[in-house]
Amino acid sequence: MSLSIVILAAGKGTRMKSTTTKVMHALAGKPLVEHVIDTANKLKPTQLTVVTGNGAEQVQTLLDHRNITSALQAEQKGTGHAVMQAQDIIANSDQVLVLYGDVPLTQQATLASLIESGNQNSLRILTTKLDNPTGYGRIVRNDAGQVICITEQKDADEQTLLINEVNSGIMVLPSQWLIESLPKLENNNAQGEYYLTDMVALAVADGIAINTVCCEDNAEVAGVNTRLQLAELERHYQRSQAELLMTNGVTLADPARFDVRGDITVGQDVTIDINVILQGKVTIADNVTIGANCIIKDSTIAAGTEILANSMLDNAVVGEHVSIGPFARLRPGTVLANKAKIGNFVETKNSNIGLGSKVNHLSYIGDTDMGKNVNIGAGTITCNYDGANKHRTVIGDNAFIGSDSQLVAPVTVAEGATIGAGTTLRKDAEAEALTLTKSVQRTVSGWKRPVKKK
Ligand code: UD1
Ligand code: CA
Repeated sequence: MSLSIVILAAGKGTRMKSTTTKVMHALAGKPLVEHVIDTANKLKPTQLTVVTGNGAEQVQTLLDHRNITSALQAEQKGTGHAVMQAQDIIANSDQVLVLYGDVPLTQQATLASLIESGNQNSLRILTTKLDNPTGYGRIVRNDAGQVICITEQKDADEQTLLINEVNSGIMVLPSQWLIESLPKLENNNAQGEYYLTDMVALAVADGIAINTVCCEDNAEVAGVNTRLQLAELERHYQRSQAELLMTNGVTLADPARFDVRGDITVGQDVTIDINVILQGKVTIADNVTIGANCIIKDSTIAAGTEILANSMLDNAVVGEHVSIGPFARLRPGTVLANKAKIGNFVETKNSNIGLGSKVNHLSYIGDTDMGKNVNIGAGTITCNYDGANKHRTVIGDNAFIGSDSQLVAPVTVAEGATIGAGTTLRKDAEAEALTLTKSVQRTVSGWKRPVKKK
């Protein structure tokens, strides 16, 4: 049974009050519509099409990047009209799953069970029960409990408004029947739109079997119309991510103050303090400790490492039993070998820091290859940029760089070399020797401090 999926994403999203089109607003760092695309792809459809309209250029950029087909709905004349725009594409499949670009949290398993709830010739509707069903289309059943139609809020009488089983909007329909029946849709309703929901009454008339699956978790079928709803779904998503981690042996100081914005892998006995954000692709091995207010993006952290408060890691690869921070900034291309130590107010970039080497205080290490057991004194700076090009600094094993030194790249400090405090190193330093630039100390006797003018 071949399946095509159509994601409706042409709507305006007026209530977001934004120049960014609604489905491009981010949840957990990813556009709403991309959540829907990712879930849809897990179902391995033969075709996936996104119907764009409002803010089509914004959505198109994402679709081009992901190599996904789109159909343009130039004027938004309703959900049925939106599906019509994709009919050429769905013609080659047995059945069509319709999803909404602004309903981000539907689970793959829920969609799979909806698809399996009937054969390919049936119409299948994902419903949910709401305490307050205001705004949604109501699932209207006959005395035998069979679905007879869906009635939109604006077209419903008082009796119908009391129904609390609502249409999620997510439906599976037989492709051929859908294409034949779409022209029968009329727009003589309160909104003057072609409603996809009217396909239900048409199905009843044609003797098409109708199945419903009622989704227990309202968040899975909740749409985003306002920024408040977006924030609520964000919290729901973050809570479920936090619960998943805790179930798998991670300690979170406060699950409400921990955010995931990407794909993460976290080992056992990892402890994460408050206000930590994990972004992009992050892998954290066993027994890692992360202090408060750390932001870790696209990085790998090996077992037993400790990241102290207020540190930022971006595209870093960190070895075992490393100590980072507090207040450290690891920029892209930082690779720390086991037992390395990066202390407070240290910035690193595009650098390899060898086994057990220490950069403890107030330093900038950029474009550097550092060996084992190196000690970098406070305030050391690699001058890697000459205004036009970047150059590398090479520091051999067991070297010792005195505080407040500048290493002007390209430059090499050989193994076991010692650099005296306050040195501006412009030429290579010899192995096992002391290199320093001499500055003469003077004393000015009788010198008076300036005093304030009256
Ligand atoms: C729709 C359903 C309603 C259901 C509710 C669930 C219809 C007629 N009503 O109502 O039964 O309870 O969703 O959230 O289907 N869209 C287009 N082109 C259009 C109109 C809409 O692409 O011309 C897209 C929107 O971007 C959105 C989705 O379709 O992703 C739903 O549209 P919306 O206007 O929000 O429908 P509702 O009135 O909420
Ligand atoms: Ca809606």
